[in-house]
Amino acid sequence: MINTMKPISSKEIRETFQKFFEKNDHLRIKSASIVPKNDPTLLFINSGMAPLKQYFTGEAIPPQKNLCNSQPCIRTIDIDDVGDRHHLTFFEMLGSWSINGYFKETAIKLAYDLLVNHFKFDPKRLVASVYKGNPDLKLEPDHESAKIWQSLGFDDDHIVYQDHADNFWGPAGETGPCGPCTEVFFDTGDEFGPKYKSGEHFDDTCRYIEIWNAGVFMEFNKEKDGSFSNLKFKSVDTGSGLERMCMVLNNHQTVYETDLLKPLIDENQKQIPNISTEQNRILADHCRAFTLMLAEGVRPSNEGRGYIPRRLIRKCLVIIHQHRAEFNFDTIFTLIQ
Ligand code: ALA
Repeated sequence: MINTMKPISSKEIRETFQKFFEKNDHLRIKSASIVPKNDPTLLFINSGMAPLKQYFTGEAIPPQKNLCNSQPCIRTIDIDDVGDRHHLTFFEMLGSWSINGYFKETAIKLAYDLLVNHFKFDPKRLVASVYKGNPDLKLEPDHESAKIWQSLGFDDDHIVYQDHADNFWGPAGETGPCGPCTEVFFDTGDEFGPKYKSGEHFDDTCRYIEIWNAGVFMEFNKEKDGSFSNLKFKSVDTGSGLERMCMVLNNHQTVYETDLLKPLIDENQKQIPNISTEQNRILADHCRAFTLMLAEGVRPSNEGRGYIPRRLIRKCLVIIHQHRAEFNFDTIFTLIQ
């Protein structure tokens, strides 16, 4: 790999992100429990914005227009991808928000400043995606965001228009605030696939790793009948996976080499010497996820929220029993940060 950046811990990354936004007039707020409050549309908090939904709809007043935090998230939608380089069911999302405040230009410029001037990314190794539009929904392509990235030096090989499935985010749950987004990808190099050229297929599964949804431009509310209405005002919602950021900033090839997951991988390997790489990753991710669920008072059950830890624990036990291993969960629990 070509990355020349210095090693940086997950703790330093978290702090750099929060301090950057604090210096730029954002209020750092506490994270919420992964168990949603008063939100029947979600089993678990799946994004930094999920506990803040009412600020975007105008049903609650935020303590300040611009906010930031770090929010533990559960995303079981990615469960079948766990075992690859970068998908996790439990991750920490670094987030920033502007509620009825600044919009695309400031959001993108802040993202560029943090990535290039503070985290020291080489901009040549970044690609930004923007929304292609959707005529059926009467939604225009997001040329405005593309132009802002261009003004920062991104050429056509570093800006990719993606469709609704990739670049329209939300809602978190069945209904709620949502909108087109612009995401930033890090180029992990030639060994992971062909380089993107304007107009060609963009591989966001291996070579290019999404490191920051640097702006969902929230303008719409998805209603129960599937239609979109306009929100009372526009907002920006960003989210960056701490584990992925830690992976690319440290020149690691997978999230499992980061200080957040490596101790678990090493312990699994020690306890089950014949475990495969994929099984080890699944065990590490799932143990981390269900431990947090149990710590937050969720109990395994056959239905609803409790079905998620049940499924994760069952998968871990299948792996352990396959190797006829005596597995000491206590040691694992002490390694989860
Ligand atoms: N809510 C947006 C996401 O999760 C930022 O990607």
